[in-house]
Amino acid sequence: MIIRGNVSLKKYNSFGLEYVAKHMVITRTEKEAVSLFNGSVHLKRPTLIMGGGSNLLFTGDFNGTIIIPGFRGIKTEEKSDEFVIISAGAGVLWDKLVEWSVLNGYGGLENLSLIPGLVGAVPVQNIGAYGVEARTTIVKVKTISTHDGSVRFFTNDECGFDYRNSIFKNREKGNYLVTRVYFRLKTNPVPYLTYGTLKDEVTKLGEPSLKNIRQVVINIRRSKLPDPAVIGNAGSFFKNPVVDNNVADKLKKRFPGLPCYKDRQGSIKLAAGWMIEQCGWKGKRIGDAGVHEKQALVLVNHGKASGKDIFDISEKIGQSVLEKFGVSLEREVEIV
Ligand code: EPU
Repeated sequence: MIIRGNVSLKKYNSFGLEYVAKHMVITRTEKEAVSLFNGSVHLKRPTLIMGGGSNLLFTGDFNGTIIIPGFRGIKTEEKSDEFVIISAGAGVLWDKLVEWSVLNGYGGLENLSLIPGLVGAVPVQNIGAYGVEARTTIVKVKTISTHDGSVRFFTNDECGFDYRNSIFKNREKGNYLVTRVYFRLKTNPVPYLTYGTLKDEVTKLGEPSLKNIRQVVINIRRSKLPDPAVIGNAGSFFKNPVVDNNVADKLKKRFPGLPCYKDRQGSIKLAAGWMIEQCGWKGKRIGDAGVHEKQALVLVNHGKASGKDIFDISEKIGQSVLEKFGVSLEREVEIV
């Protein structure tokens, strides 16, 4: 276990904000994590579990202990003619796991290529992109209770997955540290290419192989989303609002260009990026806090913005969208 004091958070948050954590613990093994929570080690609370810092907005120093899972390893657990169960440690870089699955010919994660962050955050956020959400492949999640160090598995059902949501983000927030995630992947992959121009772009490269799908997703992401190593950001700052059919119909009449998508439950998701753009925010900045010029759903730190500057511009954007469209935006990024 690595324990450090007064740690600069700059390289631990993708907005690149300069705050300090009083303590930081990096746990390398599950045994270490158990000792952290069963009372063997004195843990200075409050605690914050971080999985890459790519979905957080710090608004000040953190006066407690930040816990970073360092659990490594990708394992094949079971294999049949149709499926393979694999598991990955919470500290594995998500995109390394996606790359590994594609190289092995296992289907299910390829549309989720190049999403920043660690495996441990994947079930918490139920990450999603290009028509696929992580919940469609997660079988179970291994965790350690942050109250007594006991080990508990959550089945897919028990995770309460929803759009960019799970019980780890709401009801059980802070109660469990994810140590390993188990995925069920297809050994005879079926491409999923219904989102936007994905199918056309893949056809341009050739057959819809896992490698080609991954390449296209990487190309699209690189063309639209800013690289946090170059300009601080946390991907989509807001969720796409989910509304019922009536509301969507009324909005569509007033704003025919508004992109809408049906979700699995039959509700309609509205493109928040489009609405923000229509309010004139795309590419705008207030000081060093800004809206990305190619994707209005992404807020950026042009250099010296504070967490509060970014929070403030997000509030203004939310107000504009509410005034023009009568729709409230919910933040996807977690404010600390
Ligand atoms: N749009 C605009 N202007 C903008 C941005 C988007 O008109 O500035 C329009 C696009 O033209 C398109 C629609 O809005 O018609 C949707 O845009 P896009 O395909 O870029 O996706 P998104 O809905 O803005 C969501 C996810 C992304 C994910 C993409 C692709 C959320 C909150 N965001 O964005 O996830 O990569 O779909 O599947 O659901 C993230 O969560 O951090 C993230 C980047």
